[in-house]
This record gives sequence, C-alpha cells and structure tokens, in this order.
Amino acid sequence: MLAIANALKQDGFAFLVPCERAPFGSVTRHAGWPEFAASWNELPVDTAMADGGRYRRRRHAVFSSSLRALHREPARPHYQRREYNPLNGGVDRWFAPVRNNVASNPVFERVVLGCARVFADMIDNAAQTWSIEAHQFRIEAAAGPGLPTPEGVHRDGVDGVLIAMIRRENVTGGETQVFRCDGSLVAHRILQNPFEAVLLDDRRVLHGATPVLAQRFGRPAFRDVLVLTYRKAGISGDGTVEP
Ligand SMILES: [Fe+2]
Repeated sequence: MLAIANALKQDGFAFLVPCERAPFGSVTRHAGWPEFAASWNELPVDTAMADGGRYRRRRHAVFSSSLRALHREPARPHYQRREYNPLNGGVDRWFAPVRNNVASNPVFERVVLGCARVFADMIDNAAQTWSIEAHQFRIEAAAGPGLPTPEGVHRDGVDGVLIAMIRRENVTGGETQVFRCDGSLVAHRILQNPFEAVLLDDRRVLHGATPVLAQRFGRPAFRDVLVLTYRKAGISGDGTVEP
C-alpha cells in the first residue's frame, strides 16, 4: 500500500492490476463482483452533454468516509468549475443515483476505503476524512465513436482520482493517458481487464482518454469504468464532516 502511495508521490500516478497487493485486493474474485459489474448494464443515458452526444450512460453518488467507514450522503448535483471542464462545467448536473445494492456491495466498500487509505498516505498530514464522488460510466461506440473525456485533457479539481476498468466489449481505443501540467504525455495504457486501474494525484497530473471505437459493427460495443474522486473533507465548527 505504501509503495503505491510512494509512486503517487514520486510520479503523480500509479497503474494497478487486481491482485492481493492492490489497495483493494483481488476484487474480481470477490463473491460480490458479478452483481457489481452487471450493474453497469442498468445505466441511463447522460442527457447533460453540452455537445449533444448520447453515447454516455452514467450513475452518480456522493459519500463521506473516514479511513475505516463509508457513509452515503444525500444526492446532490455534480458540479465542476469551467476551469476544469470547459465543455460541461459551470452548471449543476443531476444524474441518476447509484443503486443501493451497488453502493452497499462489499466490492465497492473495499475499493473506496482502500483508495482512501492510499490517498491519505499520499498526502502529508494525511486526511482522515474524505468527500468522495462515485461515477459509473458506460461509453457506447456501436453508433459511432464514443468519447470517454469529451472535455479533453483535464483535471477533476480534487485531490485523488481512481479510474478502474469494469468491462470492455467489442471496442478498440479508449486508452487512458496521463499528462504533466505542462501538457506533456507522461504515461498511457489501455486498461484492458476488469479492475485494471490507475490512481492519480489530481493536484499534479492531468488525464484523458482516447475515443472508443467499435471493433465489429452491428453488435453492442462499450467501455465501462468506475471513477472515484477524493477531496479532503472540511471540518465544520461542530466537528461534523462537510462532504
Ligand atoms: Fe476526469
């Protein structure tokens, strides 16, 4: 775990494969994995795309967490400053909620808390509480190229980010790319297998992904990912966490 945090400190990113040494263990072997992964088949279309695209499906949820416990917060809109998302930022965007059986799936909890501990190690004077947003994404390519990051290369405007592959079906492309703040490409990889992932120090690197293309037309073609964003939570005067 510390090795991953050290890689984040040194490079600003760390690619992971699902294994016992990953911060969340071998989640794809967990009994909860099939139901967790299948939930990506039930994502509604994202109708808040400023480019008019209808190739993205998603669900969203907000959580607060310590390093040991996860708490779901009331639904609220997803907001990004235009500085971070010139295409879709600057407005509140409401998305369909992550289903309760997904948020309470032990796979989800294991991943969220595992990453919370890594990001706490990444940041000196480690944060004990986090405000977390979870996004289930499906980018569809059957009707034409799908753009995983239509806003282009960007930061999410948080402290830490996890991008984890759930499933690729009949697609090429969708390469995950990491950039330094000067715009130079520092790493790139196609997250191929379930729960291959990348952790990002969002304060220090930018990210993007290349278009997703169908391999064979006339068949379903999509790329499913889980994105978690972590922001150090503020503590209010009465000691409660402000997500
Ligand atoms: Fe992003």
